[in-house]
Amino acid sequence: MIQTVAWVSSLFFILIIAAVFAWVFLNSKKKENFNKVVKKWYKTRKVYGVIVVLLMLVVTIYTLRELPYNAPVYEAGTDVHVVDVEAIQFGWNISQTEFSVGDSVEFNVTTPDVTHGFGIYNEDMELIAQTQAMPEYTNTVYMTFSEAGTYTVLCLEYCGLGHHLMMAELIVE
Ligand code: CUA
Repeated sequence: MIQTVAWVSSLFFILIIAAVFAWVFLNSKKKENFNKVVKKWYKTRKVYGVIVVLLMLVVTIYTLRELPYNAPVYEAGTDVHVVDVEAIQFGWNISQTEFSVGDSVEFNVTTPDVTHGFGIYNEDMELIAQTQAMPEYTNTVYMTFSEAGTYTVLCLEYCGLGHHLMMAELIVE
């Protein structure tokens, strides 16, 4: 039954498409003046283009107004814990891993070997802060621990056979 339906409907659509092709072929010799149509749609295209550019300008300004994204999120004068983070094949050297709720922390992240990714996950394994660990360079990521819990640090950049072993914990009480 289904095969018959498929076959008949296929035939039906094949005939329609064939009819369209035949119509185009039979009318292809006719000459008409398309200038009017062309002019009209060029004008439409121009208006459309201007609208798109203006729209994207507004969207760009709106979405970029919070740059730089990794500016400190705490107020000036806050007591900040400066923590040195060194990513190595394959592990983490973190100068402080225990914090109190409300602590504002500045992680200065670097590596002596290859590029790693420093990612902090909350207990739901949602990425809440991250930056790259780059040789001969220090990247800073700022964050305030507003909730108690055990946070997990994972490497976000494939860095060798032991990449998956690069785990650490940050305890916030
Ligand atoms: Cu370090 Cu992946």
